[in-house]
Amino acid sequence: MNNALKLTIGQCRKFIDGRDDALALPPESASFAHALVLSRGAKRCLEIGTSYGYSGLWIGGAAQVNGGKLVTIDKDQRKSDIAGAYFADAGLGNVVECMTGRATDIVRALEGPFDFVLNDADKENLTTYVEMLRGKLAPHAVILTDNITSHAAEAAPFVEHMRNHPAFFSTLVPVGSGMELSVYLGG
Ligand SMILES: C[S@@+](CC[C@H](N)C(=O)[O-])C[C@H]1O[C@@H](n2cnc3c(N)ncnc32)[C@H](O)[C@@H]1O
Repeated sequence: MNNALKLTIGQCRKFIDGRDDALALPPESASFAHALVLSRGAKRCLEIGTSYGYSGLWIGGAAQVNGGKLVTIDKDQRKSDIAGAYFADAGLGNVVECMTGRATDIVRALEGPFDFVLNDADKENLTTYVEMLRGKLAPHAVILTDNITSHAAEAAPFVEHMRNHPAFFSTLVPVGSGMELSVYLGG
């Protein structure tokens, strides 16, 4: 990882640790997402739920190594602007595209295929986002969904959906708040 990225991740973490509205991935989960993007060689990455850009720095940094891009979505313009400044500081200005608006509207309009998705916005739409993305996923694309154990009751219908889904193999990775790792098998 280059120094500009490392430094910016540290600055962003300091910023979000002093606030209660960031709801960012814990460092171990963000670092796991980074490793996953690298290992998959993912070039087309999507994040639903930018917040202040903490997870986006990790994912965008990995996409950059792979020669790829990250599109990240948040409904909050102020958060997108702050995240955009962190991406620029990290040298990811040409790698990460911030899109602001309702994720359902933006995901519907996006063109695939995506190799990697972080599903980390509103919990009531977890399943909706996956189903909207079905025709926009590359073979063996990975969808990572956070808060599976920390918000177990809210996530239960999504987990049930994914574990019985004929188009995915889906399993819990017990890192951080619990992440569901869903591999797209096609169909
Ligand atoms: C859990 S936070 C994302 C944290 C971020 N992935 C990180 O680790 O740094 C969820 C974000 O999703 C955004 N959000 C919630 N519902 C949304 C929606 N319907 N459309 C777009 N963004 C939404 C919120 O504004 C919030 O910033």
